[in-house]
Amino acid sequence: MSQSRFAAIILAAGSGTRMKSAIPKVMHPIAGQPMIAHLLQALEPSRPAATVVVIGPQMDDVARTVTPAQTVVQDLPLGTGDAVRTALQAVQGRLAPQGDIDEVLVLYGDTPLLRSETLARLLTEQKRSPAAILLGGMRPADAGPYGRLVPAPDGSVLRIVEAADATPEEYAIGLCWGGLMLIRAHHIFELIDALDRNNAKSEFYLTGIVGMATDRGLPVRVFELPVEELIGVNTRAELAEAEALMQSRLRRTAMDAGVTLVAPETVYLSADTRFGRDVLVEPNVTFGPGVTVDEGARICSFSHLEGASIGAHARVGPFARLRPGAVLDDEVHVGNFVEVKSARLHAGAKANHLTYIGDAEVGARTNIGAGTITCNYDGFNKHRTIIGEGVFIGSNTALVAPVTVGDGAIVAAGSVITSEISPDALSVARGRQVNKPGRAAEIRARLRGKNR
Ligand code: UD1
Ligand code: MG
Repeated sequence: MSQSRFAAIILAAGSGTRMKSAIPKVMHPIAGQPMIAHLLQALEPSRPAATVVVIGPQMDDVARTVTPAQTVVQDLPLGTGDAVRTALQAVQGRLAPQGDIDEVLVLYGDTPLLRSETLARLLTEQKRSPAAILLGGMRPADAGPYGRLVPAPDGSVLRIVEAADATPEEYAIGLCWGGLMLIRAHHIFELIDALDRNNAKSEFYLTGIVGMATDRGLPVRVFELPVEELIGVNTRAELAEAEALMQSRLRRTAMDAGVTLVAPETVYLSADTRFGRDVLVEPNVTFGPGVTVDEGARICSFSHLEGASIGAHARVGPFARLRPGAVLDDEVHVGNFVEVKSARLHAGAKANHLTYIGDAEVGARTNIGAGTITCNYDGFNKHRTIIGEGVFIGSNTALVAPVTVGDGAIVAAGSVITSEISPDALSVARGRQVNKPGRAAEIRARLRGKNR
C-alpha cells in the first residue's frame, strides 16, 4: 500500500503571553534545545512531503532554528485557525485533489514531548480507517486549560469546546485535545474558511473545524495518545514539568544503553548528549548541549560540561568545567576546579587541580601542575598556547600566549613564560630566591623597640 503523503504545519506564531518572556515561546529550551527543535526531530522519521512553520513577525531566530523547514509569517496572532489558514498558502497548489498531498498534519509548537513513534501511530491509524479529521486525544489528570472533546449521543466526537467557553458540564469532560490533528486535504479549505471569532477570546480557533465537520456529516475520530507526550507548554511551570519528563526519558535511554547514573535524578542531560558503554556519571553533573563521552569514562560530581568531547577512560572532575571546544583524548584526567575551553588534551595528559586551559594544545602524557593558567586573552584578541608531549609544567605557572613549549620540557613552578621553550629544556622564569641568615630576628627586634 502506498504511503499517503502529508504536509506538516507547525504553529509557532502565538505571542506566548503566559510565559511572560521577551523570547518566543517555542524558543524556550528543553534539554538544551528549543522546544520546536524537539518537535521537528519527532516529525522527521515520518517524512512529510512539506513542512511549514507559522511564525510571528520578528521571529527570525525561530526561522533560523527550523531551517530547512519553510516558514510563513502570520502578521497578527488572530488564533490557531487563522495560523493554519496562513500556512496553507504555502502548500495550496500541492494539496489534493489537484496536488499530491492528501493530508495536512497540524502540530502545535508548544508540545515538545511528542515522540516520533507516537506520531507514526497516528498516521497509521488514519491510513487504517480514514477520517475527515483524526484528533490526537488525551486524558490529563487535570484537564485545566485544554480543549474538551464533546461527545455526540452515539459516543463519537461532536466538537471541541475550549475551556474558557465550556459550560460546567463540558468543563467536567476528561477527554481533551492534545494539539495535533490530521485533516483530509479535500475538506480543509471549506472548514477553515468557515471559522468565525464568536468565542471568549475573539480568535479564529482551529478547534472550531471539528464541529463544522460533524455538522456537514464528515467523519471525525479521536485516537488516544499518552498524555505525557502531549503536555502543552504555556507557562514556566509547564516548561519545568516538560523538562522533568524529558530528563527522565533521556536518563532512561542513557541507562538502557549501558551508562551508570549513580543518582539519575541529579544528572541533567541535553537531547544530544552521547555516551559510550560503561560511562559512569556521579551525582550532580550537568551536560549542556554538544557533549560526547566515550566508553569507560568517569564524570565525577559537580562537573559542568558543554560542547565537549571526552575520550575513552578519561576522568573528569569533581568540580570540573568543560566549555565548548574542550577535547579530551583517551585517559586524560581533568580534576577539581579545572576549566578547559577550545583546547585539546592529547592521550594521557593530566591537569588535576585549579587550572585554566583555553585556546591550547596539550601533548600526550603532559602533566599540568596546580594553578597553571594559559593567559590567552590580552584584552583584545585570543592567542594560543602549544604544549608538546611529555612536558612537566610546575605549579602556578602562567603561560602568556602566544607561546610554545617543546616536547619533554620542564617548567619550574611559579614561572611566567612569555617566550618559546625548546624541547627538553628546563625553563625557570621567576625571581631568584635570596636567603639572609638572622635578618628576620633583627627586624623583629627593631620593630619591638619602636612599639615600646
Ligand atoms: C490549544 C487548543 C486547545 C488544546 C491545546 C493543546 C486552540 C484554540 N486551543 O490551546 O484546544 O487542548 O492547544 O495544547 O487551538 N499560535 C499561532 N497563532 C495564533 C495563536 C497561536 O501560531 O494566532 C500557536 C502558538 O504559538 C502555539 C499554538 O499555536 O504554538 C497553540 O496556541 P496556544 O495559545 O498555546 O493554545 P492553547 O491555549 O494551549
Ligand atoms: Mg498551548
